[in-house]
Amino acid sequence: MKKKINNNPFTWNYSPAVETKEHIQINPQYNLFINGKFVKPNSNTFFDTYNPATEEKLAELSLANEKDVNAAVLAANNAYSKTWKKMPAKERAKYIFRIARVIQERARELAIIETMDGGKPIRESRDFDIPLAANHFFYYAGWADKLNYAFPNKTPQSLGVAAQIIPWNFPLLMAAWKIAPALATGNTVVLKPSENTSLTALKLAEIIRDCDLPAGVVNIITGPGSTGSFMVNHPNIHKIAFTGSTHIGKNIQHSIAGTNKKLTLELGGKAANIVFEDAPINQAVEGIINGIFFNQGHVCCAGSRLFVQENIAEEIINKLKARMETLIVGNPLDKNTDVGAINNKEQLSKIKSYLKMGKEDGITLYQTLGELPKKGYFCKPSLFINATQSSRVVQDEIFGPVLTIQTFRTIEEVIEKANNIPYGLSAGVWTDKGSKIFNLTKQLKAGVVWANTYNKFDPSSPFGGFKESGFGREGGLHGLMPYLKF
Ligand code: NAI
Ligand code: MG
Repeated sequence: MKKKINNNPFTWNYSPAVETKEHIQINPQYNLFINGKFVKPNSNTFFDTYNPATEEKLAELSLANEKDVNAAVLAANNAYSKTWKKMPAKERAKYIFRIARVIQERARELAIIETMDGGKPIRESRDFDIPLAANHFFYYAGWADKLNYAFPNKTPQSLGVAAQIIPWNFPLLMAAWKIAPALATGNTVVLKPSENTSLTALKLAEIIRDCDLPAGVVNIITGPGSTGSFMVNHPNIHKIAFTGSTHIGKNIQHSIAGTNKKLTLELGGKAANIVFEDAPINQAVEGIINGIFFNQGHVCCAGSRLFVQENIAEEIINKLKARMETLIVGNPLDKNTDVGAINNKEQLSKIKSYLKMGKEDGITLYQTLGELPKKGYFCKPSLFINATQSSRVVQDEIFGPVLTIQTFRTIEEVIEKANNIPYGLSAGVWTDKGSKIFNLTKQLKAGVVWANTYNKFDPSSPFGGFKESGFGREGGLHGLMPYLKF
């Protein structure tokens, strides 16, 4: 008998369609990628990386200590002054194009590894993360020899070595967001992926080596927060690009105060997704679902606060519940899966503590009825109905598949509530009136505002936040600026 995967009487159960992983090669142990080679860590210490959907160990990763960080920064500085800075820009572009091409060629392998190491559905890593990562390299390769046109009447110059620290929610994509513009502007790189999801960055290191990028131009080192801290505090780096929690972002800003290091921070978010009575309701419901359950809500720009105009609230809530029941939660390697595993154990307990907090605040919690897999870190798609503005489930970034719903009557009221939050990364607006869209995009304090859609990305459009969501932009022409001086 087929296993029942959800309880909705209107849907049928699909047969499993699990992506094969036989051809995937994950080494038992990985070294650090420094100066064009994989080298043993000075620390001689290793840590494990897991598959969060099965709790199985996938590989051992090197823990980079201060000496390892020093070696990586030295390699990047040498490569900068001896090779990369001197190379004609059009030659640098060729290497970046080559990386893009090889990512495309190895896309399937990268997607499977991303899903195994991080828990996201294969459909997402296959159709979103990996193609977009390749596209970032393509896009920035195009800018490399056109910087004078990008910034007319100025003389853009590279900075030196960029220390780049990235999180676990979009591992390869974040690496591409960081590395591609740094290389295009003539800088060299030391990148540290998250300790939970380093495998695709290590695969990228193999790709970079195979593309014959000059030794030391990109160095990829693994380790926990302490490794990141050594990078940030190293005297010979010139630029820091960080994506992660607001707390660590603030720490980094403190620790570099009084130095010449340039900094961009892409931190948390708590986006308002606003639905007006004149919105196309069914599309809006799809957009709301995509906005919060995409990647288990592990998205800094997730549409985690839903605002619905009062007279359509009941209709939207009913449609949302029905749609949520059709979401398939389970094996991330299955092509039918909509909601995969929570990335790590700590994150799952953080989400659970927020579910408890919301209930204690007296907010009604609706969770889908289907069973969760017995093993692995999973969380049911969850809805907090009648949430209150002051509750912590509304104010804090939960970073999980948890949506809060509030209602509003007037535009002024919803703008006031949407902006009344420490974050300002993104927002969504659903209405058939263009004038309302323009009014809101001006008044919402958010770096990105999507209209009648959600979570759309393109390498040519800049992304970044206001307030505690950070500063600086990634993507597009704007994404070149943090890596240049004029
Ligand atoms: P985190 O901010 O601790 O980690 C992000 C990266 O920074 C990792 O590579 C980590 O090793 C590194 N890091 C940690 N401490 C550091 C330090 N002192 N100096 C330099 N680098 C350091 O985020 P974590 O613990 O993985 O997640 C915690 C929360 O952060 C999540 O629950 C979520 O709310 C938020 N988050 C936001 C993300 C975003 O895209 N804005 C991404 C991931 C998490
Ligand atoms: Mg992992």
